[in-house]
Amino acid sequence: MRILITGAFGQLGSAFSRHLSEDFDIIRTGRSIPHGKNGIILDVLNQIYFKEVIQATEPDLVINLAAMTPVDGCELNPNLAKEINITGVQHLCDSFDGKIIHLSTDYVFDGENGPYSEDDPVCPLSVYGETKLASERILLNHDPNHLVIRGNVIYDDSETTKASFLNWVVNSLKEKQEIQVVNDQVNNPTWTKSMADIIALCIEKDLSGIVHWGDADHLNRYDFAIKIAEKYVLDSKLIKAITTEELNQAAPRPLKSGLKSDKLVQALNVVPPSIDECLNAILERNAE
Ligand SMILES: NC(=O)c1ccc[n+]([C@@H]2O[C@H](COP(=O)([O-])OP(=O)(O)OC[C@H]3O[C@@H](n4cnc5c(N)ncnc54)[C@H](OP(=O)(O)O)[C@@H]3O)[C@@H](O)[C@H]2O)c1
Repeated sequence: MRILITGAFGQLGSAFSRHLSEDFDIIRTGRSIPHGKNGIILDVLNQIYFKEVIQATEPDLVINLAAMTPVDGCELNPNLAKEINITGVQHLCDSFDGKIIHLSTDYVFDGENGPYSEDDPVCPLSVYGETKLASERILLNHDPNHLVIRGNVIYDDSETTKASFLNWVVNSLKEKQEIQVVNDQVNNPTWTKSMADIIALCIEKDLSGIVHWGDADHLNRYDFAIKIAEKYVLDSKLIKAITTEELNQAAPRPLKSGLKSDKLVQALNVVPPSIDECLNAILERNAE
C-alpha cells in the first residue's frame, strides 16, 4: 500500500516515516524538505499543487499531519491557524478520493472533566482546538469512512520539531537551565512510536470515525518532566512547578484532560504502554 504523509518532517511525521516504512511504501511531503532528507514539497495551502502531487504519486491512503501546532501561535495568529488547520484539510478532501487518516487532539475538549472518551461533548477553549475540531468535521462530512485519531502530549526524542516536550526538558537540564513546568495540566503523554503502531493497526483493520489513543499513565506535566529527568539521570531540582494561571500563556489550556483509549484497546486488542517502557525504549534506541 502506498501512503502519502503531509507534514512528514515534523515530530509525528518523522516517527511515522521511520516505523511505517517497514510495511508500507511511504511518500514523505513537507512544506519544506530538511537538508539531507528526501521528499516532495507540498504546502497544503496550495490547492492546485496539492492535486498535482496526488495525481503524480497516486497514493492509496493519505495520513494528514500538516498543521499549525504551536497553541499560542494559533491564538496570536488565528487567520493563519484557520488557513492551515481548516482550509488545508478542505484542500486535501478536494484533491484526494481515497481514505484519509487525520490527526486531531484532546484540545477539542475543555479539560473540566477528563480523561475523555470519543462520545464526550467537545468544547474547545483555544483557536488551535477550534480549528482542529473544524478540521475533524470537514473530514468526516466529506466521508464518514475517513479516520480521525485524537492524541495528546505526543513526545519523542526528536530534533526535527519545535514541538518536543522531551527535548526541551532534556536539553534545558543538560545545560543546567532552570525550567518552569505546569503542575495542573493532566494528560496521558503518548510516545510517537505508540501512535505509529496504532495507526498501522487502524490501517490493517480499516477503522473509521473518531478514535482516541493515549498511553497508559495519566499525570501532570511537572510529574512527567520529573520522570524524564530521572530516566535521563539529570538534575530534577532544576524543574520548578508553576500553575497554568501563573504561566499566563496566550491560549487557555484544558487542565483535567487526556484521552481514554478503551475503544481502540478493544477493537485492536492492544495495551497502551507506560511512560517508563517508552522512555526506556527511547534511551535504548539512542544508545544503539
Ligand atoms: N504534538 C502533539 O502533542 C499532538 C497532539 C495531538 C495531535 N497532534 C496533531 O498531530 C499532527 C502532527 O503534529 P506534530 O506533533 O508532528 O507537530 P509538528 O512537529 O509541528 O508537525 C507539523 C508539521 O506540519 C507542517 N506544516 C505546517 N504548515 C504546513 C503547510 N501549510 N503545509 C504543509 N505542511 C505544513 C510543519 O512544517 P513546518 O516545520 O515547516 O512548520 C510540520 O512539519 C498535527 O495535526 C497535530 O495537530 C499533535
